[in-house]
Amino acid sequence: YFVALILPTIFASLQGTSIRMSTHGPREPPCLPALPLIGSLLSLQSPHPPHVLFKELQLKYGQTYSLKLGCHNVVIVNQHVHAKEVLLKKGKTFAGRPRTVTTDILTRAGKDIAFGDYSATWRFHRKIVHGALCMFGEGSASIEKIVCAEAQSLCSVLSEAAAVGLALDLSPELTRAVTNVICSLCFNSSYCRGDPEFEAMLRYSQGIVDTVAKDSLVDIFPWLQIFPNADLRLLKQCVSIRDKLLQKKYDEHKADYSDHVQRDLLDALLRAKRSAENNNTAEISAESVGLSDDHLLMTVGDIFGAGVETTTTVLKWAITYLIHYPQVQRRIQDELDSKVGEDRSPKLSDRGTLPYLEATIREVLRIRPVAPLFIPHVALNDTSIGDFTVRKGTRVIINLWSLHHDEKEWENPELFDPGRFLESGGTGLIIPSSSYLPFGAGVRVCLGEALAKMELFLFLSWILQRFTLSVPPGHALPSLEGKFGVVLQPAKYKVNATPRPGWEKHKCQAC
Ligand code: HEM
Repeated sequence: YFVALILPTIFASLQGTSIRMSTHGPREPPCLPALPLIGSLLSLQSPHPPHVLFKELQLKYGQTYSLKLGCHNVVIVNQHVHAKEVLLKKGKTFAGRPRTVTTDILTRAGKDIAFGDYSATWRFHRKIVHGALCMFGEGSASIEKIVCAEAQSLCSVLSEAAAVGLALDLSPELTRAVTNVICSLCFNSSYCRGDPEFEAMLRYSQGIVDTVAKDSLVDIFPWLQIFPNADLRLLKQCVSIRDKLLQKKYDEHKADYSDHVQRDLLDALLRAKRSAENNNTAEISAESVGLSDDHLLMTVGDIFGAGVETTTTVLKWAITYLIHYPQVQRRIQDELDSKVGEDRSPKLSDRGTLPYLEATIREVLRIRPVAPLFIPHVALNDTSIGDFTVRKGTRVIINLWSLHHDEKEWENPELFDPGRFLESGGTGLIIPSSSYLPFGAGVRVCLGEALAKMELFLFLSWILQRFTLSVPPGHALPSLEGKFGVVLQPAKYKVNATPRPGWEKHKCQAC
């Protein structure tokens, strides 16, 4: 009976791409073959990571196509006009997020910003977090001081290694520096190397990154949870350690909270929550929008989750490309020498005068987008993308990799060429194609864009003012192929940071 029922459907699905394509009325996107229960899994077997496979599948299915993951319909968007329709023109319609087993564990069932579904609570929540980040993040003098202190400490570590001729894996050092910026921003506290609380934080963050990054089948087939699952167990352990630490910080902040002083993001969030609670006449009260302690804690968790791995990885890609392209490194150093000199360190206000460094950062974000598939969006109503109908509940994946490597939009897209972001005179910055969205756009645009750009600029300018980066003699150049996970990661390798003339003497105390 089962075979009789299922087999015809299986064969129908295997026959190709054009199921549900009719000449009259609404058209659904071409769909990859899909089998009952497992959906399109068989068509997704590939040695390539998903963003590369999704780009290749365009050749067969067109730029926008669909597939089935278990029982979920998923639309893949590979081209900027459709991407902008999803993110901007119909931003609210596509502002939903899917719930999955792993993200539910991570976010207490979506009580954060990144994985929280679109709702009144979410909108209010995002607004106050955005306000708090503006106050403590973008352009604020205090955050500039915090980033510069971390850049200084990082450069001290590089100096010490150089003094004894040691090549370093920069990954842990960069993670430490970026984590400390986020700690200062969120909790007004930073940590020295080796601090046990800090080391625990680095360990559990890595555990979360490692387990969330797995292409977890349990997210496609939630019933698999009934079987023992080592990754889910590790994820739960790491989340529980994270939550204890967040709760401790939260309790400390609540205990000495004052309406008159805002030390950090957590104070700003507490203040917004209290003012919503006390303002009985407000249209939106804390109760009606459900802004609970859980929401505040998960938001801080989000800032760590979204803010550390992404920024650190972009820094690692930047360094990897600078090592491959020493002429780019030299040109940035020349720019730094002529515009900043060696008597002082770079400041945020130098950004306007260092276009080549800015262009290099833009090119790194283009060629190796750290979130090549964004976070999936969900259609909240029946709607459309271009001429295709899209049903309510469909998941939409924007393939940023395809946008940033579109041969019609970028000349020689595989070539690392910061010059493409400069005007022909070489002094002004441009965005040469609409197919460039490293931080997303619209309702779900990255909340940390300004902060991330600031960090990238300050860390890179401090390092390149003082050091020339290379691989140790005899070592192969690092691979430019990324490893796909929660973010697209470069491989591990060791770096020689050679002090530039005049900087050998600037040895400062590491934290
Ligand atoms: C270079 C570093 C970064 C890159 C390339 C990046 C990129 C992105 C992208 C592509 C998205 C998804 C947009 C979408 O789903 O439509 C996103 C979301 C997000 N990012 Fe970033 N990000 C970076 C750093 C940061 C930092 C430093 C923070 C926090 C301070 C942050 C906080 C967030 C949050 C909270 C979201 C979720 C927004 C929402 O769902 O409404 N990001 N980011």
